[in-house]
Amino acid sequence: MNPTEHDQLVHLATEACDMAYAPYSNFRVGAALLTRQGKVYQGVNVENRSFGLTICAERTAASSAISEGHKDFTAISIASRGGVTPCGACRQFLAEFCDDLTILLVDVDKKNSVRETTLNKLLPDRFTELG
Ligand code: THU
Repeated sequence: MNPTEHDQLVHLATEACDMAYAPYSNFRVGAALLTRQGKVYQGVNVENRSFGLTICAERTAASSAISEGHKDFTAISIASRGGVTPCGACRQFLAEFCDDLTILLVDVDKKNSVRETTLNKLLPDRFTELG
């Protein structure tokens, strides 16, 4: 990921936050996912009155990319008020489509202090068949 892509991911994840559907938690999350081919897909959390059906912004973005045939991810930016790290389900979901992934964690109120980590740091010893 070059500096332009970094800034673009931070911007697009922050922009996506406004499109979140989060009437139950009021916690809006936006994601911007960079594919190996250099395309970026946005995603938002989509909640449901049957709470368990909620889908996180990361998985929305990944599903959108896969729907267009992009199955190799290199970076993701996740933006919210205060910042979040991806939930366990999203870590495993994203791991399906990359060996590792740069992860940018953005607090929309502090866009100049982005925290950078990786999927392998957040999901060490991921699920694989050992046999
Ligand atoms: N959420 C995400 O979209 N991504 C995360 O990484 C953490 C949580 C959403 C799910 C739910 O709509 C809201 O944030 C509160 O948990």
